[in-house]
Amino acid sequence: MAEKLGFNVFLIGFMGAGKSTIARGLQKELGMELVEMDERIVEEQGMSINDIFEKYGENGFRDIESKLVEDLGNQEASIISCGGGVVIRPQNVENMKKSGKIVFLTATPETILERVKNGQDRPLLNGHMNVEYISELMEKRRDFYESAYDIKVSTDGKTKGEICSEIISRLTE
Ligand code: S3P
Repeated sequence: MAEKLGFNVFLIGFMGAGKSTIARGLQKELGMELVEMDERIVEEQGMSINDIFEKYGENGFRDIESKLVEDLGNQEASIISCGGGVVIRPQNVENMKKSGKIVFLTATPETILERVKNGQDRPLLNGHMNVEYISELMEKRRDFYESAYDIKVSTDGKTKGEICSEIISRLTE
């Protein structure tokens, strides 16, 4: 097992980029705490992500998300799997940079579709499960992701083990 890191590791990237899977892999490799942001929000609010969007709108969800990012700076260094839209608020990126490093996971729209097409828990994709829609939303988000990351790792055609090793070696070099 590699040594624990003394800072938070924030995994960012589009829905289906592999953030949750890779976060669990890094947690095992590094023996650090794991925070799955969406899960934490669902627990705290006692509602599904779909219901939060319906009740409070996307903006209300973003407020809850921003508060969580802020709180994560005050707890033990962890591996944090972020919601795909966390980067669209500059304040979130600033807060993440204060307490850790940001790892941007990428995948092609085709790979993303394969990974998300059977899920129903992503309000922004419900009813839009196609490559065109995913590509468009990805394009709208591109600058946010590109300007936020410390390291960028492509996940296409790589195993979970390969991706985790690449991240650990680049974070510790
Ligand atoms: C969102 C991504 C989701 C979740 C919410 C909004 C987004 O998380 O936070 O549905 O705006 O990209 P995942 O990236 O974990 O699916």
